Formats: sequence, C-alpha cells, structure tokens
Amino acid sequence: MDRFMNVLPYRIHLSRKSSVTDTAPKELIAENVIRERVTELAAKISEDYADSGELVLVGVLKGAFIFLADLSRELTIPRSIEFIAVSSYGTGSKSGAVRLVLDVRGDIAGRHVLIVEDIVDTGHTLKYLIGMLKSHKPASVRTCTLLHKAEQAEVEVDIDYIGFSIGDEWVVGYGLDYAEQNRTLPYIGCVKPTD
Ligand code: PRP
Repeated sequence: MDRFMNVLPYRIHLSRKSSVTDTAPKELIAENVIRERVTELAAKISEDYADSGELVLVGVLKGAFIFLADLSRELTIPRSIEFIAVSSYGTGSKSGAVRLVLDVRGDIAGRHVLIVEDIVDTGHTLKYLIGMLKSHKPASVRTCTLLHKAEQAEVEVDIDYIGFSIGDEWVVGYGLDYAEQNRTLPYIGCVKPTD
C-alpha cells in the first residue's frame, strides 16, 4: 500500500454558527477548526515523510501563504520552503489556461516536493504545477490543499492531503481573497462574487 495515503477531508456545513459581525464575510470554517485541522495534516505529513530526508514545501502564491506558514511550523520533519506563482486566464471567477510567473528558486532535483495550495477548484492550476515541477526531476511530487471544491473539478488531479471539502462557495480569508480583499481574515468566510 502506498505510504502516502490521503488524509480524509472534513466536510463543512454552512449551518455552523457565525461569530462575526453582519458586515464581515459569513463564517464557513472557524479559526480554531482550521488550526486543529492544520495540526492533523502536519502530523500525517510528518509521519509519511519521516524517513524521506528534507521535504521541500512549495507554496503557491498568493493564496497559500498563511496555510504554508502554519503548516510548515507544525511539521516535525526537516523541511525547506519554496514559492511558486502562476496566473490563469479564464472567464469571470473560473480559471482557464495557466502560466508560470515565478518558478522555485532552489534546486529540487532528486528531492521530495509537496505542493501546498490554499484551494483546488477546477484543478487546472494544480495539474499544471505538478507537470511543471516534475520537469525539475524531483524524487517525488505530492500535493496538499487546505480547501477542495470536489464538485467543480474539470480535470483529474491527485490530491494527497485535503483539509476541508467545500461546495461552490466563493471563499475568503486565511490567505484567500476576493478582488484582493479579506486575505488576512483569521477564518474562512463566504462572499457573493459580483461578476
Ligand atoms: C487560486 C488558488 C489556486 C487556484 C485554483 O488562485 O490559489 O492556485 O485558484 O483554481 P483552479 O483549481 O480552478 O485552477 P488565484 O487565481 O485565486 O490566485 P491567488 O492565490 O493569487 O489569489
């Protein structure tokens, strides 16, 4: 059996009681729930990579910056940090063709790589990133996302670690934005996009 087993995602229900004001985005996943889940993911990743040497965490800018910061500090294994950035061309709030705008700085050849995403929606970005990073000849490439919109998938992509499975809400906070707003909210909230 593959030792890199999926961590089963939590399913989130919108009925969760909100603890924020009416003007703030409606709370979907509370700060303490995120913290507990990040700790669980970090424990699983630490276990899976216990005998693999240093793990290279590749955070996908911008949205993954807070998740990566918290996840990386909970790991108990040797790790290093890289960042990557892409832009996607699509219509409205959906992503389409993906283009690399910032590559990893360090040499990842022969090393174990874990891509850290804030959200996987259609899957186009992650599929592109897996292929792009594999071209650097790493020992392995695995994937971790805080949020997964499974019902929105347009392409098949392997996700090894999933924090939470969500519906088709537009989510903000904990690194995620809508029109660059609300990235620094401590919780995950929902907004209604206007486009
Ligand atoms: C988000 C997220 C992923 C991508 C997922 O990035 O960080 O990279 O969308 O979408 P997909 O599965 O449909 O390809 P976004 O374009 O919002 O940029 P940002 O992280 O800089 O906010």
